[in-house]
Amino acid sequence: MAATRNTPVYLFILPTLASSLLPSPLPSNLILDTTITDGWQHPPVARLEQRFKDMHRLDREKKIHSPELYAIWNAKPWLTEEGMRKSRSGEKFEWDYVFWADAGSFRDTWYNGGSWPLPKIRRTWEKVGEDEMDTEHKVFLPLQHATTKELELEGGLRRSYRRGNSEASFFGGSPSTIRWFNSTFDAYRNFYMSRSFFIGKEQPLLNSLILLLPSRFIRVHVNDPYAPAYIHPNSMLDHRWLRSIMRRYLRSFYETRALGRCRGEYMYYQFFFADKHTRQRLQDMWLSDLHDSWDHWFGGGENPGGSEKCRTTRAISLLEAFRKDDVLGPNWDPATYRSIVVRLGGIR
Ligand SMILES: *[C@@H]1O[C@H](CO)[C@@H](O)[C@H](O)[C@H]1NC(C)=O
Repeated sequence: MAATRNTPVYLFILPTLASSLLPSPLPSNLILDTTITDGWQHPPVARLEQRFKDMHRLDREKKIHSPELYAIWNAKPWLTEEGMRKSRSGEKFEWDYVFWADAGSFRDTWYNGGSWPLPKIRRTWEKVGEDEMDTEHKVFLPLQHATTKELELEGGLRRSYRRGNSEASFFGGSPSTIRWFNSTFDAYRNFYMSRSFFIGKEQPLLNSLILLLPSRFIRVHVNDPYAPAYIHPNSMLDHRWLRSIMRRYLRSFYETRALGRCRGEYMYYQFFFADKHTRQRLQDMWLSDLHDSWDHWFGGGENPGGSEKCRTTRAISLLEAFRKDDVLGPNWDPATYRSIVVRLGGIR
């Protein structure tokens, strides 16, 4: 964690774990909050203990989940606003950008020696194309598998309700965006609770929010065939040709390598927000490390050219992403999804 040296990190941790898990001395950019001593103590979920315990019976993955875990997952937007508020010094002072990051996403040590996220983060927001909402007020949210027909309306709603489209391990934006996100998440949680939707996991709730309010969210997408940095395959002998055919006709989650040899969506946002030196290190590492079965069958795997280096892209709004031909199409309107949510009433 020392590697994020320039970025203040506000860490919620149980008092009992603080001494055993953290390094000594503590990094100077780390602010510890040990005031929360159990998962049910967060105001948004305190009154939901019994509901989450009942819901646990409906969970397809109940063996690996617990009601306490639901409580923590559901409290993330609340904790983000809470951390933002408590870490402010002085009444008037505000952060420029605030992000939630699961402690688990710091597991990797790839960013050692760099600072993360990079200081010029504002550019990410500035470069998102204008649509219904002004660019500043958008939540950055990494997604998995969300540009395939997975998101297709009614069936997609039911499925995406269980799948992890939104990663939920990282999100953020300006302080006003964080406040909006917390109160919106809270309002929808109450609504879905009243209809007996399964919302133990926070991902389904986030999936529904991104379909209801897609212009409020932005992302970077490593398999984006519409990215300016996408390199078209120029012949059938190019292994990218096969990858693009796979994607077009089989709609698989198969990595198209639209932006070169990058390591999946999860690592991509970390790469995207890293400084130049860290990016270069990752590019070189992935160029030689990443192989999949296609590389071995169709060549190009052992000695990838420099053009295969992982490339950066720009952030896009989810409205723009969902309206691509290979997702929900240019005529898709979030209002369609809104009426489905209302009609379904509740999903188990
Ligand atoms: C999050 O939003 C809810 C609902 O608007 C509000 O009651 C709560 O105070 C907010 N959380 C924080 C930490 O401010």
